[in-house]
Amino acid sequence: MAMLIGIPRETAAGEKRVATVPEVVEKLVKLGFRVAIESGAGEAANFSDDAYRAVGAEIIAGAPQLWAASDVVLKVAVPTSAEVNLMREGGTLIGFVWPAQNPELMQQLAAKKATVLAMDCLPRQLSRAQKMDALTSQAGVAGYRAVIEAANVFGRYFNGQITAAGKVPPAKVFIAGAGVAGLAAIGTAAGLGAIVRANDTRAEVADQVKSLGGEFVKVNYEEEGSGGGGYAKVMSEGFQQAQREMYVQQAREVDIIITTALIPGKPAPRLITAEMVQSMKPGSVIVDMAAERGGNCELTEPGKVVVKHGVTLVGYTDLNSRLARQSSTLYATNLFRLAEELCKTKDGNINVNMEDDAIRGLTVIKDGEVTWPAPAPKMPAPAAKPAVAAKAPAAAHGHGSSAPMSAKSLALVFGLGALLFLLVGAYAPAAFLGHFTVFVLACFVGYMVVWNVTPALHTPLMSVTNAISSIIVIGALIQVSPSSLFAFDRPDGWIRGLAVVAIALTAVNMFGGFAVTRRMLSMFRK
Ligand code: NAI
Repeated sequence: MAMLIGIPRETAAGEKRVATVPEVVEKLVKLGFRVAIESGAGEAANFSDDAYRAVGAEIIAGAPQLWAASDVVLKVAVPTSAEVNLMREGGTLIGFVWPAQNPELMQQLAAKKATVLAMDCLPRQLSRAQKMDALTSQAGVAGYRAVIEAANVFGRYFNGQITAAGKVPPAKVFIAGAGVAGLAAIGTAAGLGAIVRANDTRAEVADQVKSLGGEFVKVNYEEEGSGGGGYAKVMSEGFQQAQREMYVQQAREVDIIITTALIPGKPAPRLITAEMVQSMKPGSVIVDMAAERGGNCELTEPGKVVVKHGVTLVGYTDLNSRLARQSSTLYATNLFRLAEELCKTKDGNINVNMEDDAIRGLTVIKDGEVTWPAPAPKMPAPAAKPAVAAKAPAAAHGHGSSAPMSAKSLALVFGLGALLFLLVGAYAPAAFLGHFTVFVLACFVGYMVVWNVTPALHTPLMSVTNAISSIIVIGALIQVSPSSLFAFDRPDGWIRGLAVVAIALTAVNMFGGFAVTRRMLSMFRK
């Protein structure tokens, strides 16, 4: 019997999102599930009961009835204790949970013998998990909306204009923190025509800032800001001092500051002091996206818009609900991608496979047993960074797998290679030596090309291997002549046979490569 996926109406104050939207219901039904929506669940995001009904969802009036009927409940906001009470024993819940911050909720869910998948616990560094990354999809919407909120209270244009009434300078926008939300804000503000600057403690985002039309402002202090997994760490006092000096200068120059800086498990770093706010031009705006976690600006009041020292401080904590239709659609798509992973059989039944790294990370409670925190997913070892190698010359003596070969073993490899060539040269037919040399060189080049590419880039590499495949195909075609195919009694029959096999295998690689490349390109098309 197919499982019933239920979507209750969100009960948190001000929460306008809904965990699924009509276009996704259609896809869930195709996966074999039955879908039920609590009456009015999509109203705040402009999805009517009728729109859900039209795509095959059942509408159930009342939360108790909906929770009782559902095998799997999809939610957005962290469930309240009252909601968990409505949950069916042994049911499955998928949504935001934040287990570290909600130990009592975890206990209550475990007591219900529930299976809980927390969207905030997805191992985001797995490339396979990106389609399910709700933190990213929601941060992107929030970053966009932060710019719109700033534009709403800012008294001028974003873009520079020359009009009959006079020249208008472009607005200057500074984005503090260039993670997912910050990058979305940079792109949006640049799109509106503002001059955009940004800073982040992780130096690697500088290129991303530039590619979106922003300028990366450096802090005059050398320190690596990455705390692992793509996240930031708390910086040293020296760095913070240098960063403050940079902010003092920027605050005087820019019209709008949007702050997005967060450090996992820590209160938001204080970046903008009261004096900096005071030094800003009258009519300036600060949007503090970290308001909920204590704020990046000292004067922010969470959830409110206040004016202090002539500067408007926007501390909204519901930016996603302010774009509820968009946020819901992206979140629903993340959940659908997860449903696909959970229901590979397409028969409307889920299988929480704890052997799968992405699913393991998401699963915080399995059949009433707390399985959070998950062990770190098995990742390919990251390539050694040149900067690190430069600092540690001792590594050149061959410790560890990523260290370069020692001079001794290098000499041994080359010696063996030379001996092999000597033997081939002495005993094999003359023509063979030429082919053999090309073969060895080809293996060497292939090895260097593939092994020096970061595993994350292996998919785009497929399209390069297409070029190599075509060389193989041309070679194989030259060998094949239809009259003597598979004539194994003749000595060259084998060669022709092998050539046919080579064509077949290479064709799989080539067409597979084209298919993958096409799918990747379509991800970037509008
Ligand atoms: P976040 O919301 O935890 O932090 C936002 C930003 O604030 C980060 O870029 C952080 O470096 C920055 N920050 C922290 N302290 C700061 C300070 N004192 N001054 C200036 N900036 C400061 O992070 P988010 O946006 O959730 O993701 C962080 C990174 O992880 C992103 O760059 C993203 O690209 C990466 N990521 C990678 C994924 C993957 O490998 N598949 C998936 C998702 C995110």
